[in-house]
Amino acid sequence: MPLAPRLRPGQAQALEIVPTGAALGADIRGVDLRSIDESVFAAIYEAWLDHAVVLFRNQHLADEDLIAFSRRFGTLDHAPIQENGRRFVEGRPEIYVVSNVVEHGVAIGSLGAGEAVWHTDMSYLPDPPKASALYSLEVPATGGDTCFCTMYGAWDALPDDLRGLAQTLRVKHDGTYNSGGYVRAGVTPTDDPRTAPGTLHPLVCTHPETGRRHLYLGRRRNAWLEGLPLDESNALLDRIWEIATADRLAWRHRWQPGDLVVWDNRCAMHRRDAFDPGARRVMHRTQIKG
Ligand code: SIN
Repeated sequence: MPLAPRLRPGQAQALEIVPTGAALGADIRGVDLRSIDESVFAAIYEAWLDHAVVLFRNQHLADEDLIAFSRRFGTLDHAPIQENGRRFVEGRPEIYVVSNVVEHGVAIGSLGAGEAVWHTDMSYLPDPPKASALYSLEVPATGGDTCFCTMYGAWDALPDDLRGLAQTLRVKHDGTYNSGGYVRAGVTPTDDPRTAPGTLHPLVCTHPETGRRHLYLGRRRNAWLEGLPLDESNALLDRIWEIATADRLAWRHRWQPGDLVVWDNRCAMHRRDAFDPGARRVMHRTQIKG
């Protein structure tokens, strides 16, 4: 891939922040993420807090550039273990590969080519990442779009009869399945959310940086509202999820190679469309500690 010219130190970057027009997301233009200074990063960070998801097109990031840029948001997590129990990218434990590509009979990444359902990254942990950065190296001609939805909007959209109740509830976030439906390495599968591995988090949270209230849902599969009989919990969760994932609260991203998308994992959820398993899709992801 040809490298774009780097800006000289001190050379101004004409940062342009263009909201997507949807309920969340902004396109940030005019930056080469390999060579930004503190003031440019401060503007990016503010836009990210404001819009929950930011997109940078036409980037030329080696893994070390992706790691360096991601580190500006905070300390990085090590990538989760791949579905087959491997870690990937030798010497780069921060990089998680999302890919359907199989080389010499071994998957190079996770999540395959199927749909990845709506989720928050790693919410089954007590301290999930605050942000994730996903960089596209190879994308299929069609399919594999990633959609984002706003959990601020989900809170705002809750009807009055649900708001009071929602603030008293905690959700059990399941650690059995990943968003592609694969069982996590080392876990014995179960479909009883009450006994499944996972963590309880409040259903309604206040964002520690923006101070705005939002829902925190994680994943629908194997979720449970603490203390409620399963059928009541399921009925209530189904109602809340329908509100939270309405089209009007979402934004769809059609990938090109060289796109970097950074989302606020606290107040936005994401999902991915299925794509042709014969096509190649290779993405590298980092996660910033919560
Ligand atoms: C992810 O869930 O982190 C991956 C999303 C995608 O592959 O677009």
